[in-house]
Amino acid sequence: GIRDSSTSRGLGDVYKRQYYSSAGGETEMILPSNPGPIGVFDSGYGGLTILHGLRQMLPQYDYMYLGDNARAPYGSRSFEVVYKFTRQAVLKLFSMGCHLVILGCNTASAKALRSIQQRDIPELDPDRRVLGIIRPTAEVIGTLTKSRHVGILATEGTIKSESYKMEIGKLWPDIQVSGVACPLWAAIVEANEADSPGADYFVKKRIDQLMRMDEDIDTIILGCTHYPLLMSSIVKNIPDGVMVVPQGQYVANSLKDYLKRHPNMEQMVTKGGTCQYLTTESEEKFKESAMIFLHEQVNATHVDLE
Ligand code: DGL
Repeated sequence: GIRDSSTSRGLGDVYKRQYYSSAGGETEMILPSNPGPIGVFDSGYGGLTILHGLRQMLPQYDYMYLGDNARAPYGSRSFEVVYKFTRQAVLKLFSMGCHLVILGCNTASAKALRSIQQRDIPELDPDRRVLGIIRPTAEVIGTLTKSRHVGILATEGTIKSESYKMEIGKLWPDIQVSGVACPLWAAIVEANEADSPGADYFVKKRIDQLMRMDEDIDTIILGCTHYPLLMSSIVKNIPDGVMVVPQGQYVANSLKDYLKRHPNMEQMVTKGGTCQYLTTESEEKFKESAMIFLHEQVNATHVDLE
């Protein structure tokens, strides 16, 4: 069960002491209650595309990125496993000082977001928030497609969950949605093979499959945050006149709006313009790959989630 008490530590920082049950009994977790960075979580490197969008639009905030690279990809994992891993990551980011965490991962947004929001947040700390990235993408898609035929490329987990179909259906019932799962795409990115001929083969295969399902598609959502890292191959293989929509910019717009509507949360975000990187893999490996994706040198800190 959860107990709760307040305690004071360090330079007058107030920490909220939380106890949560884990397999080995009750574990103590200390949640700092002073303002902290915005947490961005992904199974691996994909969320960097979301982080990039956030930092471009909202550069004033501090960010903390967590990539569960050691256990990526999540795309074909079961609901239970994705939920367990995502919950661990969110707890880590909360314990590192985040009050607001963005799941920069469609698979986690599709499979774990609702349970975390409904089951975990109320018990853990009702003042913290976890937001997903499927809804903001669904909101914008109706303003982009002219033919009202939209395609989704995403992981098996996201496609099987039908989250995009449901979210788009609620907001834009006139749009016809077709989706294709792209197993391997995220793995290719995680393996740093995004620019290889092998990547091109698998990209073409799935795009062709999607266009065969519905040739009237004029807009394709890259419904996995890893996929913009395959953009050069995607652009090469997409039919003329079809638009490809990566999510970073739309998620950033939506976060900007969220923080405007929730000034209490906005006050809980520190504003130093910094970004810290956490990875469950080796620090060296993360630095090397992040360099390729971000085109800048970053430092990473190793964390364990179990
Ligand atoms: N980048 C994630 C997504 O947006 C997950 C990819 C994976 O781990 O398979 O779905």
